[in-house]
Amino acid sequence: MRSWTAIELAADIERRVAERDLLPDDRLPPVRVLAAQLEIAPNTVAGAYRRLGERGLTDGRGRMGTFVTARPPVMVPSDPEIPVGALDLSSGNPDPVLLPSLGDVLSELSGSTVLYGHPSVDESLAGQGANLLMADGIVADDIAVVSGGLDGLERVLQAHLRHGDRVAVEDPGYPPVADLIRALGFGVVPLAIDDEGPLVESLAGTLDRGVAAVVVTPRAQNPFGSAISLERATALRSIVGEHPHVLVVEDDHAAGVAGAPMYSVASGRERWATIRSAAKTYGPDVRLAVLAGDPVTIRRVEGRQRIGPGWVSHILQRLVAQLMSDGDAAAGVARAASVYASRRQAMLAALDERGLQAHGESGLNVWVPVPDELAAVRALEKRGIAIRAGVRYRIESSPGVRLTVAALDEAEIENVADAIHASVSELGPGTRSG
Ligand SMILES: Cc1ncc(COP(=O)(O)O)c(C=O)c1O
Repeated sequence: MRSWTAIELAADIERRVAERDLLPDDRLPPVRVLAAQLEIAPNTVAGAYRRLGERGLTDGRGRMGTFVTARPPVMVPSDPEIPVGALDLSSGNPDPVLLPSLGDVLSELSGSTVLYGHPSVDESLAGQGANLLMADGIVADDIAVVSGGLDGLERVLQAHLRHGDRVAVEDPGYPPVADLIRALGFGVVPLAIDDEGPLVESLAGTLDRGVAAVVVTPRAQNPFGSAISLERATALRSIVGEHPHVLVVEDDHAAGVAGAPMYSVASGRERWATIRSAAKTYGPDVRLAVLAGDPVTIRRVEGRQRIGPGWVSHILQRLVAQLMSDGDAAAGVARAASVYASRRQAMLAALDERGLQAHGESGLNVWVPVPDELAAVRALEKRGIAIRAGVRYRIESSPGVRLTVAALDEAEIENVADAIHASVSELGPGTRSG
C-alpha cells in the first residue's frame, strides 16, 4: 500500500477530475472511508479535501459530504457537441450576423506606438466609455479597462474580499459567475429574482445573513431575462444603502443590445463597480470591458493588473473606442437590440398562446419554467432542437429551460413553441427534476 501526503492525494483527485473519472457533482468518499481504504490518517484526507476546496475543485456541503464542483477550475474535455443539423438554441451567443464586421474598423485604427510605461487606459476609450456610462446614469469619474465581464468581476472581488467571504448571486443566474466565486475561495448565497430583477426581501435577507458582496445583472439577466426596473432599483438601492460596506457589482454584460434601460443599484456607493462588457454588443472575441467604480476599487484593480498582464492591449481598446464613436456601428447596435427584442417577444407570445408563461424582458434568452427540465431537453433533442436544462443555472429556484433566441429565425418560432408545449404536455403535471 503506497503512502500519501495530502498534497499527493489532492493532486490525484484533481487528475481524476481532469480525466473525467470523477464528474462534476460526484460525491467524494467520506474522509474516514477513504482514509481506511488507503490506510492513511483521516487528517491527511481532510487536508487533501481542504486544499481542493480552497481551489474551487470541491465543495463541502455539510453533512451531505464533499462534492466535485459543477465546473472545477481544471481543463476537462468539453461537453458533447450539438448534433449536426440540430437547431442550436443552447449557446447563449449573440447572432453573428448582427455583430459589426471588424475588418474595416481595424484597418482604420491609428494612434501612437505603445511601449512600456504608457498609461494603461486608452484616452479615446476612456472618453467614449465614460459617455456611454454617464448616459446610463453611472458615475464615470474613475475607469479601468479589463478583459471582459468575468475578468472585471474577478478583479473587483479580489480587490476587497477575503477567503471564506460570501457573495450574493442571482438565482437562477449565469453559472460561470458562481463558478468563479467558488474558485476564488468565496461562498455563494442565492438571491431570488423576478422579471424586474432581484427581489427586495431576498436581498434584505442575504444582507442580514452577512454577505461581503452582491453581484447583480442590471439587464439581459442570463438565463431569466430580467431587467431591473426603476422602481425596483430604487428599492434595492435603499436596502443596500443600509449596508454601506457591502461591495455591489453590476454585470452589464449586454449593455448596448439588452433592449432595456439601465437603472443602477451600485453607482456612487462607497464600494461599487459597474462592468460594461463589449462581448454581446461587438462580439465575444472582443475581450474587453470598461469598469467604472469608486476610486479605491479602480486603483486596486489597475494596480493589480499592472503587476500581472499590465494592461489590455491598446489595439483592442482603440478598436472598441472606434466602434463606440462610429455612426454605422451605433446604428448596427441599435438594430441588433431591436431584432433581439422582437425575437424574444415573438417566442414569448408563441409560448403564451400555448398556455406557457415564460420570461424574457431583455437580452438574448428566454426562460421557460417546466416541470422536468431534463425530460424537456431530451424531448426537444429528439425533434432536432438543442436547448439548455436550467439545472446549471439554479441554486434554490424552480426548474426551467433556457432558449437562446438571439439568432432564432422567426420561421422556426412556432415549431419551437410547439415542441416545448408537446414536451411539457407529455410529461404531465407533478414531475420535477432535481
Ligand atoms: C450574465 C453574464 N455575465 C457575463 C458574461 C460574460 O461576459 P464576458 O464575455 O464579457 O466575460 C455573460 C456571457 O454570456 C453573461 O451572460
